[in-house]
Amino acid sequence: MSHAEDHAGTRRDFLYYATAGAGTVATGAAVWTLVDQMNPSADVQALSSIFVDVSGVEVGTQLTVKWRGKPVFIRRRTQEEIDAGRAVQLSDLVDPKAENANLDPTADASDQNRTLDEAGEWLVMMGVCTHLGCVPLGDGAGDFGGWFCPCHGSHYDTAGRIRKGPAPRNLDVPIAALNDTTLKLG
Ligand code: FES
Repeated sequence: MSHAEDHAGTRRDFLYYATAGAGTVATGAAVWTLVDQMNPSADVQALSSIFVDVSGVEVGTQLTVKWRGKPVFIRRRTQEEIDAGRAVQLSDLVDPKAENANLDPTADASDQNRTLDEAGEWLVMMGVCTHLGCVPLGDGAGDFGGWFCPCHGSHYDTAGRIRKGPAPRNLDVPIAALNDTTLKLG
């Protein structure tokens, strides 16, 4: 074999391996795409549902979880909180709408329309003040025994309804469902 032929052969081998290598890379990319679809990007995950174990949430306490990049308040109300919420006249409310994504948009802001269960124990809301988005303080804070937003002084009652201050709307109730001790958000 001449030196020139030897060189050509080496070059062919190189091209062959290079092509095989490119094929491997392409296959790898295809597999990656599939795997990528099974493990959605942060954007897609941010829109998906999450499940929260609420078995440890005692009456009179609140669990805060992060969902879609925002805090969600999961409050298990006391009977006093339920009674206080149900005693409020609709005519006394700033925002007469339930602001509950699980109900028709025209549903009124009665206490019953704010909670997930018939007994009214489980109140699940976005922990985002409807004024400019601060996170309200809970555990009976504010003049109405619910939540208080320290940024500009908005007071929410025991059903998370705005009662005083600059916030225009009740705290939003997200799409949610309670199954025994598991809460599904989204
Ligand atoms: Fe809550 Fe302004 S952001 S009162």
